[in-house]
Amino acid sequence: MTLAKPLPHDAAFQHVSGTARYVDDIPTPASTLHLAFGLSPVAKGEIKSLNLTAVRNVKGVHLVLEAKDLPFTNDVSPSAHDEPLLADKLLHYAGQPIFLVIAESHLIARKAAKMAEFEIVEGVPILSIKQALSSDSRFESGPRVYSKGAPDSALATATHRLDGSLNLGGQEHFYLEGQAALALPGEHGDMVIHASTQHPTEIQHKVAEALNIAQHAVKVEVRRMGGGFGGKESQGNALAVACAIAAMQTGLPCKMRYDRDDDFIITGKRHDCQIDYEVGFDQHGRIQALKFTHYFRCGWAQDLSLPVADRAMLHADNAYDLPHVRITSHRLKTNTQSATAFRGFGGPQGMIGIERVMDHISHFLRLDPTAVRLKNYYPDMSEINEAPATTPYNMPVTDFILGEMTQSILSSSSYSARKASVAKWNAENSTLKRGIALSPVKFGISFTLTHLNQAGALIQIYADGSVLINHGGTEMGQGLFQKVAQVASRALGVTQSMIRASATDTSKVPNTSATAASSGSDLNGMAVQVACKVLQQRISAHVSKQQGCPEDLILFSENMVTGPNFKLPWLEVIKSAYENRISLSATGFYKTPSIEWDRIKGQGRPFLYFAYGVSVTEVVIDVLSGENRILRCDILHDCGNSLNPALDIGQVEGGFVQGAGWLTTEELVWDDSGHLKTHAPSTYKIPACSDRPEVFNVSLWNAPNSENTIYRSKAVGEPPLMHGISAFLAISNAVSACGSNYPHLQAPATAEEIFFAIKRAKGMTHEF
Ligand code: MTE
Ligand code: MOS
Repeated sequence: MTLAKPLPHDAAFQHVSGTARYVDDIPTPASTLHLAFGLSPVAKGEIKSLNLTAVRNVKGVHLVLEAKDLPFTNDVSPSAHDEPLLADKLLHYAGQPIFLVIAESHLIARKAAKMAEFEIVEGVPILSIKQALSSDSRFESGPRVYSKGAPDSALATATHRLDGSLNLGGQEHFYLEGQAALALPGEHGDMVIHASTQHPTEIQHKVAEALNIAQHAVKVEVRRMGGGFGGKESQGNALAVACAIAAMQTGLPCKMRYDRDDDFIITGKRHDCQIDYEVGFDQHGRIQALKFTHYFRCGWAQDLSLPVADRAMLHADNAYDLPHVRITSHRLKTNTQSATAFRGFGGPQGMIGIERVMDHISHFLRLDPTAVRLKNYYPDMSEINEAPATTPYNMPVTDFILGEMTQSILSSSSYSARKASVAKWNAENSTLKRGIALSPVKFGISFTLTHLNQAGALIQIYADGSVLINHGGTEMGQGLFQKVAQVASRALGVTQSMIRASATDTSKVPNTSATAASSGSDLNGMAVQVACKVLQQRISAHVSKQQGCPEDLILFSENMVTGPNFKLPWLEVIKSAYENRISLSATGFYKTPSIEWDRIKGQGRPFLYFAYGVSVTEVVIDVLSGENRILRCDILHDCGNSLNPALDIGQVEGGFVQGAGWLTTEELVWDDSGHLKTHAPSTYKIPACSDRPEVFNVSLWNAPNSENTIYRSKAVGEPPLMHGISAFLAISNAVSACGSNYPHLQAPATAEEIFFAIKRAKGMTHEF
């Protein structure tokens, strides 16, 4: 059966042959108009006057819209209604859209958009964490606090104490396909939208609001994205709404795609942040008390910042059982792009905080960092005899397997021997220093906004026996459609070639959640399975009547339907079912059981289960230039019973490389007036193929999920990104070989940062 087979991505051939269609590839009528935004030149200010005459006079410009020209609402926010499509007088960041040009070509629209004359009274922008704190510029009235035990008194009486601070840079999504949307006006005021979005339903809602029409009049279709990584959860709203308004006003198809620089300058990124810690621990490195303070720079609008910052808090424990802990989280409002979802959704920031603490403790006690980690792990599920340990938010950890997984990778990666050879190398070499590190991942699976944990599917069997699947999930390269097709293949007993997963379409499956939180296959796989079972039961009942055989003796497998004394081709059975007027389409619905969560109190069970993984990375740094190379990476990752090991390994490899990119080469730089200076591949360095580890051993921990998920698999989309933390820790380990002080390496560990960290390790007092 096709389940668990390492089959290629369903569109692999199209991807590599250039025939996969993205929004910008859809053939459009010759009358299609093209859109571009005119952007704010300042980070904070007030528009005194806006002269668009020159823009309007450009040949080929059809229409120019300002905030006051918008027919109904002026909001593209996911929930807080604080994000105007076009700025209305007040300017909140450099790059904020102010007006919309609708022209005959993409180039004309872009050129015209640069010709506006503004009179702006500039304000003093709030850019840094420090500035935001001092002017109390924040979302929510004060910090959010989750705690357990008595962290203050436990810290006061701890054997040893350390404190420190870790700055983490943001991250641009750099999806290969940029943001794009196309609106096709229909009769009766209807609107069809093609968008590159992880959240078709939200686009449907925002377009319906903007046009003041019912949701049934808007259909959003997403065939695929050329990468989303969280950057297309909410950031596509502006383009789709702009196209819809322009299409309604002109009666013509309207398309918008951001040029790469605009994509960088307009859209939100991963939240950069600062994580302060105070930790108390005993002589073995066992943590007695821990206090974290998170400072998240959220940008100008709320977007998804509250749940992102929540998830950071929910991952502040990572794999460790903390008896006394407090996590305080500040969500700061700044005059920068509105930070948004990015693979891990705050989890990576939360997790690296405690990995830094483990590192700092081991350095202080001169103990092996892995030994210190093992001392603090939650107990493995096989070892729980009484009450399980609980997280800082009071959820029992009942499925922990990292103890066993860590032992396994320590041996498969020859950790001890390699640690010794790294030490030997470092004793003998002064220019190139090596470092090695292990880090674990425990990542919570479910949307923390509980009601989002639902999904729908629609399965249609046609008279020739072919099967069409629709579900609410979107395809962004992760292989969701292939996995779900394998689920349907198994559930119906037909081969993969009979099944086609078609574009995500709000008119086929309504009220869907974003494809996010790694939940795509968990939720949609289940919904598809439910629908397949409904169909199979109907077909079984028909065959049973025809053949005079009990339903439970009928088997569906490999395009054959068999019973004790018959064996019929699927095709024949479907034909006969159709002729006997059996309905051959069905919907399926699934909602995640057992979860409940109070985000204000920070108590409950936000996650159905945890996905686990552990990695060991070895690096080398050049002491003179600060450059680094990843020499080897071993990863053991838990996908439960893998639905498709080839796709899962691909997710793990890509996740690691993307995580390592975040923590090493990817650096976002704003100047003192709040302009993003890194807005193209010339100045922003994502990992290339040549940056992947020379030796890269990824294996899957193939054991069933202890929760009843689709074929006992586990979500895999986001968790592997956090294996990139081991690359950062390995660099820190290499830097530590340059001097006896703790280097306090900051992220991203660019060549400059590594260079300065070496000075700190050597105890050079100059403030770098
Ligand atoms: N993999 C690829 N190739 N492209 C992507 O855009 N997005 C990631 C992850 N893996 C992404 C990816 C993110 S942020 C999430 S939430 C999940 O895929 C979403 O898909 P899933 O829920 O089906 O795993
Ligand atoms: Mo992923 S950040 O949940 O889209």
